[in-house]
Amino acid sequence: MTAAAISVTARAQAQDLLDFIDASPSPWHAVASCAARLQAAGFQHLPEVDRWNLQTGGRYYVVRGGSSIIAFTLGKKPPLDTGITMIGAHTDSPGLRIKPKPAEDVSGMTRLGVEVYGGPLLATFADRDLGLAGRVMVRSDKSIESRLVHLAEPLLRLPNLAIHMNREVNENGLKFNKQTELPLLLGAAENGTAPDQRFRAPLANALGVAAEDLLTWELAACDTQKGSFWGVDREFIADSQLDNLASCHAALSALLAVEQPRQTCLVALFDHEEVGSESAVGAGGSLVGDVLQRIAGHFSLDAEDQRRLLARSFFISADMAHAWHPNFPGAYEPCHRVAVNAGPVIKSNANQRYSTNADTAARFMAICQQAGVPCQQYAHRTDLGCGSTIGPIVAARLGIPSVDVGSPMWAMHSIRESAGVLDHGYMIAALSAALRGQ
Ligand code: CO
Repeated sequence: MTAAAISVTARAQAQDLLDFIDASPSPWHAVASCAARLQAAGFQHLPEVDRWNLQTGGRYYVVRGGSSIIAFTLGKKPPLDTGITMIGAHTDSPGLRIKPKPAEDVSGMTRLGVEVYGGPLLATFADRDLGLAGRVMVRSDKSIESRLVHLAEPLLRLPNLAIHMNREVNENGLKFNKQTELPLLLGAAENGTAPDQRFRAPLANALGVAAEDLLTWELAACDTQKGSFWGVDREFIADSQLDNLASCHAALSALLAVEQPRQTCLVALFDHEEVGSESAVGAGGSLVGDVLQRIAGHFSLDAEDQRRLLARSFFISADMAHAWHPNFPGAYEPCHRVAVNAGPVIKSNANQRYSTNADTAARFMAICQQAGVPCQQYAHRTDLGCGSTIGPIVAARLGIPSVDVGSPMWAMHSIRESAGVLDHGYMIAALSAALRGQ
């Protein structure tokens, strides 16, 4: 590849992805970023508590719990004629979450207690300039408000133990006891100031409220380093949360690119994938089924027709895939090495860790062909446990044909993941083709 082989469009799409991620340091921010883009494109917000008054050709979005969002466009054709094409992805990423009462003084240092959210590569969180992002519940005059907060300057740190006290680290790997060795350093303890006050002060400052009005929070330690291009031709990208904000961004970009679709199109971005999806806002919850039922209601579909609609629909679960790493050839299934910048990956697993079957894989291959992008196939090594996605969960809940796809990436669940510039453009093109339909 040469730098010239990367089109201006692909470069711009990758830059837009990095900007999207840098503005989305938590699932709540990711949903706010999506909502802002949808709103700017003329999509209308539908509160779940309101009665919906849908119009054919209308463009809408629904938010649940602040961290999951579904956007949809009602096609010109009745959905029973075309089915609904759906793309799903997840807004959450593994990492460290701040506890409800996190601050503690220990021998002159103020530390924050954390919970491990999902399955991060913990060692990558050490020695990073960490900020803080998420939502805080704030008491106001009449009510309680949910406010987003993003402390984007280095505030927290998990310093490594020096190699002089951890002599075997390069042989045994970098390990942390999750309870005792992961608390994040916030500052030197201050005589006469409670650690809780030290923790609340920067949050209260950022929000412009009194510290005692901060009721409680859901906060993640976030990377303060912005996304970057790297490689001799700047053909790769690095950022936090590529898994799975890259798929969220690709799905959203596709939905925004297909302005007047014939068919009804839906993009569902769920929180809680990294912890199993079983929640009111997760893919295992009722959200997508509820929205589909309300769409069916608009078209006055009875129970029989609702099932016909589902049988005709298609779900594309978009989540990142494991790219082949030349330094670890033994980690991969020999005939299923997927390369970075070689196109979307169709992920298959006979044990249904992925929802793909031969029929749905073939459908996605045809979509890629229609979009003029290459595509690859991935299967995990047989002697390694395979990860999973929202694909099998949504497919089982709705009973519809589903495929698992994703862009290849390295270092999944590191705080600094990497992927390919071209792949992001390919994925947007493939998902746009899927939404555009035949
Ligand atoms: Co993922």
